Amino acid sequence: MLEEMKPMFMHDELGLAPDCAAATTPLLEVKGVTLQYKTKEHLVTATYRVNFEVMKSDRYILLGPSGCGKSTLLKAVGGFLSPTEGNIRLNGVDVTAPGPDRMMVFQEFDQLLPWKTVKENVAFTLIKSGTLRGKAAEDKAMQYIEKVNLAKFANTYPHMLSGGMKQRVAIARAMAMEPQILLMDEPFAALDALTRRKMQDELLRLWDDTHFTVLFVTHSILEAVALGNRILLLSPHPGQVKAELNSTGEDDLDEVSGLRLSDRINRLLFAQPVEDQGGTFHE
Ligand SMILES: Nc1ncnc2c1ncn2[C@@H]1O[C@H](COP(=O)(O)OP(=O)(O)OP(=O)(O)O)[C@@H](O)[C@H]1O
Ligand SMILES: [Mg+2]
Repeated sequence: MLEEMKPMFMHDELGLAPDCAAATTPLLEVKGVTLQYKTKEHLVTATYRVNFEVMKSDRYILLGPSGCGKSTLLKAVGGFLSPTEGNIRLNGVDVTAPGPDRMMVFQEFDQLLPWKTVKENVAFTLIKSGTLRGKAAEDKAMQYIEKVNLAKFANTYPHMLSGGMKQRVAIARAMAMEPQILLMDEPFAALDALTRRKMQDELLRLWDDTHFTVLFVTHSILEAVALGNRILLLSPHPGQVKAELNSTGEDDLDEVSGLRLSDRINRLLFAQPVEDQGGTFHE
């Protein structure tokens, strides 16, 4: 059975900087969100009445098995899909369409325009969105290309880059827009294990630098534990909230259960029945 519901930790208990602890109003609110796909023959319910809140500077993880609706949820936050039930608010305003305040990074290596260089790829989004023009766009692009350690490759075309480097460009492109929230859908899943680990460390280093807010989808428990400060566990299809957990970034032993965080997540995901929202386990 699920443990008794306990109050959620406040951010200052996570050892975050005081400016993060001060954030008490959610940046993103997802309330009772049911998402469905209607095809001619079928009605597919991807998520059912999902609730969660993301605070400014959170590294918020959506974790669950394949098909539980993680990508669908991210697309809905991106404004590409409307909830059939419930609502999604960013800074108190309903999300109704895509916007430059929510930039997405995907798993695929082919997100970049192949006929543009690294610098042109990053600057293009800034220019196309009307955010910046000319030299200002180029300078901003270079600023973020440097952050992801690719300055030497600024004039290189995507086909000459490794998968990890392409993902770094995609991250730089999204971050250069300085969105309110970065939406990342398994951005490291197609990388080899060593590069994946390196990219996770780099993402944390970037976060140390600017404390951006990120909503990060993964089905890797270890990636969730390493990257997130909060982790939302979703049940198998259709995705419902199973639990919401805090992470320190380490796979720590829990004093009460004596289990590592990753083992506790394993148990919650695979060994316990879905509870209704009233019984959702918080800690
Ligand atoms: N365009 C679509 N039309 C119909 N059904 C869809 C569509 N996209 C996704 N689905 C269905 O919605 C459910 C959730 O899919 P989604 O891609 O969000 O899962 P996911 O958690 O991201 O899975 P994965 O870890 O494999 O990426 C699945 O049952 C899927 O088959
Ligand atoms: Mg997915």
